[in-house]
Amino acid sequence: MEVLEALHTRRSIRKYLDVPVEWDKVGTILDAGRVAPSAGNLQSWRFVVVRNPEKKKQIADACLQQYWMEQAPVFIVIFAEMNKLENHYGIRGVRLYSIQSCSMAALQMMLAAHSLGLGTCYVSAFDENAMARIFNLPDSVRPQCIITIGYPDETPEAPLRFRLENIAWHEVWNPSNPPVAGTGGSGRVVDPDYTVWNFRVAEKPVQFAKEAAKDIERVTRKRRQRLFSKLKEHGKKFAKKKEEEK
Ligand SMILES: Cc1cc2nc3c(=O)[nH]c(=O)nc-3n(C[C@H](O)[C@H](O)[C@H](O)COP(=O)(O)O)c2cc1C
Repeated sequence: MEVLEALHTRRSIRKYLDVPVEWDKVGTILDAGRVAPSAGNLQSWRFVVVRNPEKKKQIADACLQQYWMEQAPVFIVIFAEMNKLENHYGIRGVRLYSIQSCSMAALQMMLAAHSLGLGTCYVSAFDENAMARIFNLPDSVRPQCIITIGYPDETPEAPLRFRLENIAWHEVWNPSNPPVAGTGGSGRVVDPDYTVWNFRVAEKPVQFAKEAAKDIERVTRKRRQRLFSKLKEHGKKFAKKKEEEK
């Protein structure tokens, strides 16, 4: 699978088939994380593969009772090891680079899994203390996310995204909606996110109606063709009769 195709077609999968994931595929996914970019090439990530049902249940519970996770045959839990990051970069290393580096590894793993026909979901809503207890973590290690992995049992529609022109600009920050002095929190009279998002949401039913119209067109085309040829037949017969009557 092409990289561009993979990143456009990946979806978060929350329903999985009861089919085991081949061990060599788990290895390929871990290796995709291993080669990700990291701050100072410190590779401050650690990966733990979890397949034990009881442990998966504990993790799903720690993830604010996201029990759908248990269906996935494999979890890869990504941890940030802070010691080297703190020595090299201080607070910025601990607070920012740790998260950024682990996220790089996570997305590489998710795309690798997708290219192998597997579904994944990035989960980071969890009780950090509960995760620390489950894995008996030292103080220098912080859990970052759990990637659930398995063969998908759903094909979710792509969720709405902002259009590129609303989130990417050339040379300057948001030229169509610069901050306005004295407008409080957002710094803008109208929150552009709110407007743009509502516009995107409003487009959805229009797109749906267009697709439905296309479906109707496709389904009824044959019927219309049959009707049309019958009418033509009738027309010919009618013309012939008129001719004979003359
Ligand atoms: C930082 C982060 C945290 C997330 N945490 C969760 C989570 O706890 N549970 C969940 O079901 N999905 C979680 N997701 C997945 C998002 O809901 C999902 O990526 C988003 O809705 C877009 O859908 P897509 O991945 O199919 O494009 C998380 C994603 C990110 C990037």
